[in-house]
Amino acid sequence: MEVVIVPDAAAGGELIAEAMAQLLRRKPDALLGVATGSTPLPIYQALTAKVRAGAVDTSRARIAQLDEYVGLPAEHPESYRSVLRREVLEPLGIGIDAFLGPDGAAEDVRAACQAYDAELARAGGVDLQLLGIGTDGHIGFNEPCSSLASRTRIKTLTEQTRVDNARFFDGDIAQVPHHVITQGIGTILEARHLVLLATGEGKADAVAATVEGPVAAVCPASALQLHPHATVVVDEAAASKLKHADYFRYTFVNKPEWQGI
Ligand code: GLP
Repeated sequence: MEVVIVPDAAAGGELIAEAMAQLLRRKPDALLGVATGSTPLPIYQALTAKVRAGAVDTSRARIAQLDEYVGLPAEHPESYRSVLRREVLEPLGIGIDAFLGPDGAAEDVRAACQAYDAELARAGGVDLQLLGIGTDGHIGFNEPCSSLASRTRIKTLTEQTRVDNARFFDGDIAQVPHHVITQGIGTILEARHLVLLATGEGKADAVAATVEGPVAAVCPASALQLHPHATVVVDEAAASKLKHADYFRYTFVNKPEWQGI
């Protein structure tokens, strides 16, 4: 995988937003897989600035959701559908018609998961999938020991993830759902380009396990090592436990042809 060490979160956001802009210039109706959490916000801000400056056109872009809480109504402010509407669709001027996501409020959750995988396939697959990473190495909501071949399905959150996400629910862990729908690791690996952004010291152990550890279900993000086009963008703090940091810096700066990520 390609590892890019950037000075700070804003630089990571700019680098990734530029990769998304280049993709949209090549393929205006690209299907962009987006993630929630605090980490991707600089990406959305940088991409929004490009749209407002007329440097990229998102009018035909399509957006696909990575994961969702089970049991929250779609209009709940912390359902990931609502979060993505606020943070991605509205700033980028993309309509809800161009949005694909699983139905977290479905009666039959299993059927909703299968329907979402089928919908992604019908849409031609995800062109670029953004990922954050949990402190325990999860991607989407694939918690440690998730099958590396898993498809979109219901998962139970670990206590750690519920604690981490309580900040979005007035700090009250009791309000954080126990169950979620997440694209499976096998589903995620079908995207044509995977781009993971991690910032801050709290992610340093997870990043080291992802990049330099063995491919193992105990660190779901390590599955990125199996993908032919995976990019991990990290700030200095998140890179602080990488043994090969100098090599990654050297290879990125000395790419034979500079094309961003
Ligand atoms: C949640 C999301 C993940 C995200 C993770 C990290 O668990 N399901 O997609 O990567 O949080 O969030 P943050 O970027 O806020 O640390």
